Amino acid sequence: MEIFESVYSIEQKITALKNSGKVIGFVPTMGALHQGHLSLIEIAGKASDVVVVSIFVNPTQFNNPDDLKRYPRDLQRDIDMLNNSACELLFVPTVKEIYPEPDQRVFEFGLLDKVMEGKFRPGHFNGVAQVVSRLFDIVKPHKAFFGEKDFQQLAVIREMVRQLNYNIEIVACPIIRETDGLAMSSRNMLLSENKRKKAPIIADSLFESFNFAAANDVEKTKKFVIERINASSELEVEYFEIVDGNTLQSISNWNESDYVVGCIAVFAGEIRLIDNVIYKNSMS
Ligand code: PAF
Repeated sequence: MEIFESVYSIEQKITALKNSGKVIGFVPTMGALHQGHLSLIEIAGKASDVVVVSIFVNPTQFNNPDDLKRYPRDLQRDIDMLNNSACELLFVPTVKEIYPEPDQRVFEFGLLDKVMEGKFRPGHFNGVAQVVSRLFDIVKPHKAFFGEKDFQQLAVIREMVRQLNYNIEIVACPIIRETDGLAMSSRNMLLSENKRKKAPIIADSLFESFNFAAANDVEKTKKFVIERINASSELEVEYFEIVDGNTLQSISNWNESDYVVGCIAVFAGEIRLIDNVIYKNSMS
């Protein structure tokens, strides 16, 4: 694996590879890698000739400075993991490389980023769009791979790709879970022992709600999930929304959409965890 720190050096390398006809697959990350990232890299490896991974903790997408400060960072551990993966090129830029000048761009995503994460983390998706578009401009991949755990992020990135006319295929990859069901996340390693023990209640509740939903309406299903999770003193639901999977707008009736997803954010103390469940997708 080759490691690049400057925009110039990775651009040179990728241009040469593209000129020789290689298909470039890109997995952007913020480091603190886990099996979820490795599964994205594995999928990227099967679908492209060369896999590029970036590790960059993007300051512009953190609306909470404490969250940015405590975001886990361990580059050597990440490099060791990547050495055993399909990643061939690792891009580890500094903030100055990515943002030589402050990025003043303001994106307009309509209602997509006004709900859920967008509502509770104002500015978050603008920061995600800033960094992902900057990384796309540098790496210029044919395909980019994102996890479905960040369901709303995927929708926002697809919309950004549409608006900015990028010729990049966005590939959605399934959520990878710990053996007890907890969706893998870099933030899991910040959980105290007790909170880590209780955190699988989030996935359990979502899975149980799948059956509950078959016999109950949307409102009752929302209440079922929220009450089940909040019953644990270690967990507190920030939001649980049942939405149309394309528009991300709440639905009030199961028949309102063919693509229905339940998206949740839960606080385990200071640590914020997200997850989702697909109730219905007539396209899949
Ligand atoms: O999902 C993430 O890890 C980040 O939001 C991303 C896409 C790497 C942008 O910083």
